[in-house]
Amino acid sequence: MIELAASILAADFAHLADEVALVELGGATLLHVDIMDGHFVPNITFGPPVVKALRPITKLPLDCHMMVDNPDNFIQDFAEAGADMMSVHQEVCRHLHRTLQQIILHGMLPAVVLNPATPVDTLIEVLPMLHHVLVMSVNPGFGGQKFLPLALDKIAHLAELREEMGLNFRIEVDGGVAHDTVAQVVEAGADMLVAGSAIFSPGKTEQNAVEFLKIARAAGSVQVA
Ligand code: DX5
Ligand code: ZN
Repeated sequence: MIELAASILAADFAHLADEVALVELGGATLLHVDIMDGHFVPNITFGPPVVKALRPITKLPLDCHMMVDNPDNFIQDFAEAGADMMSVHQEVCRHLHRTLQQIILHGMLPAVVLNPATPVDTLIEVLPMLHHVLVMSVNPGFGGQKFLPLALDKIAHLAELREEMGLNFRIEVDGGVAHDTVAQVVEAGADMLVAGSAIFSPGKTEQNAVEFLKIARAAGSVQVA
């Protein structure tokens, strides 16, 4: 199933509930929530109170992307706030297996994120635990950056490993995914598509989502045939 995970980083924060309603109408089935701490990435966003505020206003699963140095410290807070999925960066987790166990224990779906420079093979041992792998197609920290094509080989490599290992984790991609780049990421094997600046735009948000999904699903059906 190909899904749009709308990244609220690009939304109008003064009207967040309206923005969420619009992407939902446009067909988004996940809300991607970018948590940044000003240390792991050079930017700050939001924390558990925003997740808690989002929880009652949407049925969409909240997909929390932890761009923080110490995600272990926040697992409980985000679980209690209502996060459904938590993805942690491979680059900051010294005891990645333990962190994933904790995420599972707190009732969230576990995922690992790979920066552009981090090899896929660093995850082989934990792949059986994962709900999804998030492949960054920009260096994390900001919306609106240009898509890095090196992500395509990593997505394809993950899809091959999934097949070889008989697993069913999903493959998410994040950064610069837009109407002109989404077909190639779907063809490479991604099926959870994070998009922020390509979707949120005053007066056009719902239509942007509809058109984005149309392109993505067309690319997906070509792949199946
Ligand atoms: C970047 C974030 C992304 C960001 C994507 O560090 O992880 O989720 O919102 O934004 P766009 O879709 O504008 O590249
Ligand atoms: Zn993200």
